[in-house]
Amino acid sequence: MIDLHCHLLPGIDDGAPDLETSLEMARIAVADGITTIACTPHIYPGLYDNNGPDILRRVAALQADLEDAGIALKLVAGCDAHLTPTMVGELNSGHIPTLAGSRYFLFEPPHHVAPPRLEQSVMATLDAGYMPIITHPERLSWIESHYDTMKALARAGAWMQLTAGSITGRFGKRPQYWSERMLDEGLVHLVATDAHNLRNRKPLLADAVAMVAARLGDAAARDMVVTRPGMVLANAAPAAGPRAVGPAAKASTSLGVLRRLFRAA
Ligand SMILES: [Fe+2]
Repeated sequence: MIDLHCHLLPGIDDGAPDLETSLEMARIAVADGITTIACTPHIYPGLYDNNGPDILRRVAALQADLEDAGIALKLVAGCDAHLTPTMVGELNSGHIPTLAGSRYFLFEPPHHVAPPRLEQSVMATLDAGYMPIITHPERLSWIESHYDTMKALARAGAWMQLTAGSITGRFGKRPQYWSERMLDEGLVHLVATDAHNLRNRKPLLADAVAMVAARLGDAAARDMVVTRPGMVLANAAPAAGPRAVGPAAKASTSLGVLRRLFRAA
């Protein structure tokens, strides 16, 4: 599995505070079945003033530390880019690094206030040739009053990334409810850990993936942690990938299997 959202770099934001924690998080991820992690520290002007060139240097340094420690985990660079009015220019300049240098990047809406003109901001990045991945819509405190906005963003072409811990209930009932609803409505493209530490935000995907598989089928679950993340790393066109689907697809998959069985018989 590929985890496209993880605060693994040490001492750069509110993620891993030191190298020891980063290495232990990496061990946990590998044991969970994760083979590649995108290191995505916050870029949040005034709070976390990180930038692309520095993140790339730190990713290369941590990759070397992983190799020294004998941990088989591939790293790529990225960031968790908080919405700003100057996003497109910062993507163009490399100040905001995309995921593994692709067209895809993590777009973090504000947690507690629904931003005016969110749709226009997302569209501006799409029009500029980038592929925004909206991070953890299910955890936004304003999703209830703006759920239609999320649907419109997905319709416009943005991808939606759920947090694994929201699906498993680690963030409580409301994020779990919105996760299930978005899954059932075919609005989810990716699941990622958004891991921050060794306590309550570990880099774990497998349990959440099993829950998605039980809900939507194995293929849809795999698409969220293997197929689409692989497309991101390869900078493949989003249209070339599988469509996001709800539980109806699981039923039709089973029907397809039944038909094949009947034909075989
Ligand atoms: Fe994050």
